[in-house]
Amino acid sequence: MIASLLTDLVSNYLFEQRIRQDSLSVEKLATTLAPFFSLADTDTLHTKLLSAGGEMGGRLMLVDAEGKVQLDSYGTLLGVRLQLPQILAVLMENAGSDYGIHRASTAAPEGDADSYISSCAAPMVDDQGNVIGAVLFISSVQELMTSLEGVQSRMLSAFAAVAMAAMAAAMIFSRIITGPISRLTRTIQRMGRGDLSVRVPVRGSGEMRELASAYNTMAQKLETLDQSRNQFVSNASHELKTPMTSLKIMLQTLIAQPEMPAELRVEFMQDMDHEIDRLTGIINDLLTLTKMDSHALELHPAPMDLCQLVQATLRRLRPMAEKRKQTLTASLPDALPMTGDSAKLEQALYNLVDNAVKYSPEGEGIEIAAQREGRNAILTVTDHGPGIPAEDLPHIFDRFYRVDKARSRDTGGTGLGLSIVRQMVTLHQGTVTVESVEGKGSVFRVELPLEVKP
Ligand SMILES: Nc1ncnc2c1ncn2[C@@H]1O[C@H](COP(=O)(O)OP(=O)(O)OP(=O)(O)O)[C@@H](O)[C@H]1O
Ligand SMILES: [Mg+2]
Repeated sequence: MIASLLTDLVSNYLFEQRIRQDSLSVEKLATTLAPFFSLADTDTLHTKLLSAGGEMGGRLMLVDAEGKVQLDSYGTLLGVRLQLPQILAVLMENAGSDYGIHRASTAAPEGDADSYISSCAAPMVDDQGNVIGAVLFISSVQELMTSLEGVQSRMLSAFAAVAMAAMAAAMIFSRIITGPISRLTRTIQRMGRGDLSVRVPVRGSGEMRELASAYNTMAQKLETLDQSRNQFVSNASHELKTPMTSLKIMLQTLIAQPEMPAELRVEFMQDMDHEIDRLTGIINDLLTLTKMDSHALELHPAPMDLCQLVQATLRRLRPMAEKRKQTLTASLPDALPMTGDSAKLEQALYNLVDNAVKYSPEGEGIEIAAQREGRNAILTVTDHGPGIPAEDLPHIFDRFYRVDKARSRDTGGTGLGLSIVRQMVTLHQGTVTVESVEGKGSVFRVELPLEVKP
């Protein structure tokens, strides 16, 4: 389309120039020859015609008012009546000069069959202004045509090349754009089939890059979640298996020895009772944690007094502390009103004091303090026990994490207590931190907002 428009423009320009040039020359010649034509001065006309024909590089003919050839620079068409539209136009319609392009075979009096010729006619006018004949100039425009065709074909090939380049560029661009999306799709499909380790390369810039890295973050979270879930299940089954095994052994001993002395039998049964308590404890902890994971554990905040909550917790733990000859000291204000879910906060505080009692040696003192600091309530549990090694500190809030497996086994720990503390405190939009020095003791600090935001 654009190619043909352009070739039209070029051809118009070239032909217009040629027409203007030819028309001017033929008109000039017609004016020069008209007086000689009206005088029928054939010799002069012939001489002038031949020399002008040579100069202009074409065939010149003079036709009379009827269109009959009177003189021909090639000398072959004398007396022939020409039906060229240009001649007719000039003679009949009294127009100025007229111009036409023809294939030689149809239009020409003569010439080779395939070439293009131009014919240009101009009227010869006598003194009275009557048209007495016309000058016809015929020349080949084959060269012009050939060069035009050359231009046309070059343009066509240039346009074809441009079109192909544009298509190739479009394909490359679409690949650049859709490539990352199809990579992402393939990755998501692999992930859907269960391979959580797949990631997409984060390349390029802009939105695709953001999408890829957001996807990777999500995949990483899913993978971690999946791993921790697997870990949780295997740890939980292991923890449940231990008390079950000892229960089974004790039961088998009782069955195998029906003659067992009564006191020993009671001791066995007490041990079994203890194992069952332990099992129940673990199951309760696991239930709490799974409820939290599935967001089924809801906070029911209500106005409460933190001091009363501390006192209640200590009452529950005092018997165990007394058994170990430990003293539980509370340093509390008269009251510390706040809103919170007292059952959950009590569970958290219980776990902290339970640890302090369990891990501190006999006879040590344990201090529990509560105070207000700005918009927060601060709870601290301080013990003078063995402390926690620095390398273990970052992990003690993890599920099933125990510093000294052997030591905890004696005291029956599962490694769930502190992770429950953290979950409960987080549920209250609070924080729990620990400072501990090995061999000196530990301080657990819980910071709770006085008002839990809904
Ligand atoms: N006050 C403390 N002094 C020394 N070590 C502690 C103290 N509190 C916790 N730890 C260490 O941190 C570990 C994790 O505590 P956590 O309360 O989560 O589990 P646990 O007491 O072993 O078992 P559980 O509380 O589930 O019965 C404990 O096993 C213990 O090694
Ligand atoms: Mg504990």
